[in-house]
Amino acid sequence: MSLTRSDTICVLDIGTSKVACLIGRHDPATGVRLLGAGTAASQGVKHGAVVDLEASEAGIRQAVQKAERAAGVTVHGVIVNAGLRTLSSKHMRVHSQFASGAIEDRNLKRIIDTSLSQQAAPEHAILHALPLNWEVDGENGIRDPRGMYGQRLGVDMHFVTAGIGPLRNLAHCIERCHLSLRGVTVSPYAAAQSVLTQDERDLGVTLIDMGAGLTTASVFRDNQLVHVDAIGVGGRNVTSDIARGLNTPVEAAERIKLLYGSALHGSRDEYEQIPCPPVGAMDELQRVPKARLTAIIRARAEETLELLQKRLYASGLESYSGRQIVLTGGGAKLSGLRELTELVFNKRVRIGTPHGVFGLTDALDAPDYAVATGLLCHAYEQTSEAISGPPDLSGRRYQANRYSGGPVARSVQWLRENF
Ligand SMILES: Nc1ncnc2c1ncn2[C@@H]1O[C@H](COP(=O)(O)OP(=O)(O)OP(=O)(O)O)[C@@H](O)[C@H]1O
Ligand SMILES: [Mg+2]
Repeated sequence: MSLTRSDTICVLDIGTSKVACLIGRHDPATGVRLLGAGTAASQGVKHGAVVDLEASEAGIRQAVQKAERAAGVTVHGVIVNAGLRTLSSKHMRVHSQFASGAIEDRNLKRIIDTSLSQQAAPEHAILHALPLNWEVDGENGIRDPRGMYGQRLGVDMHFVTAGIGPLRNLAHCIERCHLSLRGVTVSPYAAAQSVLTQDERDLGVTLIDMGAGLTTASVFRDNQLVHVDAIGVGGRNVTSDIARGLNTPVEAAERIKLLYGSALHGSRDEYEQIPCPPVGAMDELQRVPKARLTAIIRARAEETLELLQKRLYASGLESYSGRQIVLTGGGAKLSGLRELTELVFNKRVRIGTPHGVFGLTDALDAPDYAVATGLLCHAYEQTSEAISGPPDLSGRRYQANRYSGGPVARSVQWLRENF
C-alpha cells in the first residue's frame, strides 16, 4: 500500500452484525497504536455483502464518526475488509523466456504483468496477488531471483479474488459516505495479521473466522498465504436454528445462545432447564432442557465445520496445512466450539485474540475484533504483495498499457519495497 509509516490510517470491518472502525498510527516506540475506535450495528449487510445501501451507509457513518471523535481526527480515506461468499484462491504458474543474463526488476515485472493479465476476468476482481515461489531454469524455491543468471524465469502466483458485483456495492457504499477507498484486504487474511504467531505461519496453520453471516478461512505455510475460502454460514444461522427449534423469537434465541449456548454437551444438560419465551407470548416463560439447545447448536456448528473441512480437503491443501487451527470472529466465543473444532479437524485449536496493536481497550481485545485490528496491522506491514491500493473494479480485461498508474506501476513499487 502506498502508505508511509507515519500516516494515520482508518480501517473498517464491515460485518454482517457490526461495523468496526479503528483509527491508528505507527509509533516508533510502540508500533501500531490505536488512536480511536467506533462500532455500530450493521443493518444492510447479508453474508458480508451490502444488500441495503442506505442501512449499510448509516452503520458505516456511525462507526466512523465515533472513531473520529475518539481519535480527534477527520478521516478521508479508509481501508476495508472483504468478507464475501465469493472469496476464492487461484494458483497459477507463469514462465517467461529471456535472453541469458542477469535477471532484473523488469523481468520480474513482466512476468507478474503476464500473470495478472491471464488472471483478470470481468466477473471477479483481484484483491491480492502474491508471488509464492520463483524458479530459474527449473531451480525452485528462490526467494529473490534478481541478479541470478538464467534463461527461463517462472513464478507461482497466488491470487485471491472475489465477485466484482459485491465489491462494487461495497466501494459505492464507501463513496456515499464521502470516503475514499484506499485498499481492500480479505477478512481471514486481515485477521491472520493480528492473531497468528510467526511459528504458526511458518509451520502451517488454518485460521477460521466465524462471523454472523459468514465463515471464512485462510491457510498459511512457510510464512505465506496459500489459500482462502468462505462459506455463507455463521452465528446468525445458529440463532435462527434455535428460534425455529425452540419456537422462540429470533431476539430471544440470540440472547439464549449468548447466555446458555454451547457446542458441546455438559453432564448436567439433561436436568438443567433454561427459560425460553414462546413466539407470540414474550411475557410467558416456557422452560426447555439445556440438552435440546446444545443439540441444535452442535448440529449447525458441526455441519459448518465439516463443510469447511471438505472444501479445504478438496483444495488439496489439507495434507500440508499444519497441525494448528486458530479460531476468530464472534462465533469463536461460543462455549465448546474450540473443543468441537478439535474433534472435527483432529488438530490443535486455540482461540485467537488480537495482538500487535497498542492501546486496545478490553472490548476490542476479543476474537470478533481480529479482522479490524488485523486490517490496521496489515496496512503498516511490508508484505510480498504484487499489487496494492484499491482493486480494479472496472471488469475490463487487463492491459499493461492501460495501467500506467495501476498494478504495473504498483508491481514495480512492490519490487522496490520488498527487495
Ligand atoms: N458468547 C458468544 N457465544 C456465541 N456466539 C456469539 C458470542 N458472542 C458473539 N457471538 C456471535 O458472533 C456473531 C458475530 O460475530 P462477528 O462480530 O465476528 O460477526 P461479523 O463480523 O459482524 O459478521 P461476518 O464476519 O459474518 O460478516 C453473532 O452471530 C453472535 O451471535
Ligand atoms: Mg466479520
